[in-house]
Amino acid sequence: MYLQRRNRILRRSAAIRALVAETNLLPSDLIAPLFIDEGKDIRFQIPSMPGYYRYSLDNTLVEVKALWNMGIRCVLLFVKAADATKDNTGKEAWNPNGLMQTAIKAIKNTVPEMVVMTDVALDPYSIYGHDGIVKDGEIVNDETVEALVQMSISHAKAGADFVAPSDMMDGRVGAIRSALEQNGYSQTGIMSYSAKYASCFYGPFRDALDSAPGFGDKKTYQMDFANRTEAIKETLMDVEEGADIVMVKPAMAYLDIIREIKNSVNVPVSAYHVSGEYAMIKAAAQMGWLNEDKAILESITSIKRAGADLIATYFAKDVVRLLG
Ligand code: PBG
Repeated sequence: MYLQRRNRILRRSAAIRALVAETNLLPSDLIAPLFIDEGKDIRFQIPSMPGYYRYSLDNTLVEVKALWNMGIRCVLLFVKAADATKDNTGKEAWNPNGLMQTAIKAIKNTVPEMVVMTDVALDPYSIYGHDGIVKDGEIVNDETVEALVQMSISHAKAGADFVAPSDMMDGRVGAIRSALEQNGYSQTGIMSYSAKYASCFYGPFRDALDSAPGFGDKKTYQMDFANRTEAIKETLMDVEEGADIVMVKPAMAYLDIIREIKNSVNVPVSAYHVSGEYAMIKAAAQMGWLNEDKAILESITSIKRAGADLIATYFAKDVVRLLG
């Protein structure tokens, strides 16, 4: 058989495949999410996220040092607020001595160069487990934005490099940007969860922070998973309002959205491989149905190939290990 072109030539050996690989993951592409709790010497394994832990601050600092030493350069912080601090205003979210603010300072003191990003949304602080303030059964937009602004300023004041609003209220990126400027935090960035879908894949995360909505769902603020054009609209608006980095979330069921957004904006695009996506791989691996390491590398590489410059993933350490 005579063939003018033989595509398999480029797949003949591992060395050739590496030479022509179009996508390469780097430790510096990864964002490691961290769950932080009150107390001392706590290392609580999240039942629906086997192998992933919620740490007290002392153990968080040990973890941050380990991440830095592995080459991971960015952490995204979430705190579990004590029940007694929860209300319908979310005011614990901007308590200058709150767990988040204390954690930001401690991490910055311990590993000053680590890029610290913080989740900005009211759900961990809300008695209703919603991302905003609730009035007559509705999540009110404009008052919530005012709360998110205060929360962002307090994170910036504590030393966060980026605030990451994950709430999907309208106008919050612009309001946060203006407030950062007005309060002297012109160097603090915004990573906006710009296309965040109302997804069942956040289930395990809500176990980790005890933040499941007490009534209803999040469909009046998070996006409908049927929509694509709307994701572009949301993202372009966030860029206009001042987002430095935009995000698509979840990742694997939304690779088409990641690609379209990558083609539509001129800011870095991140994607969040969320808790349920982590749990699916873990569960299948535990059953012996998937090779965990291979599933991790294939999944995370596919997210970068789709167009994500940065990837938040609970597998960050595994990815670095697998890159060898
Ligand atoms: C809070 C927030 C959520 C996640 C990140 N920030 C949960 C939610 O919106 O209900 C989910 C992350 C994950 O599932 O890994 N607004």
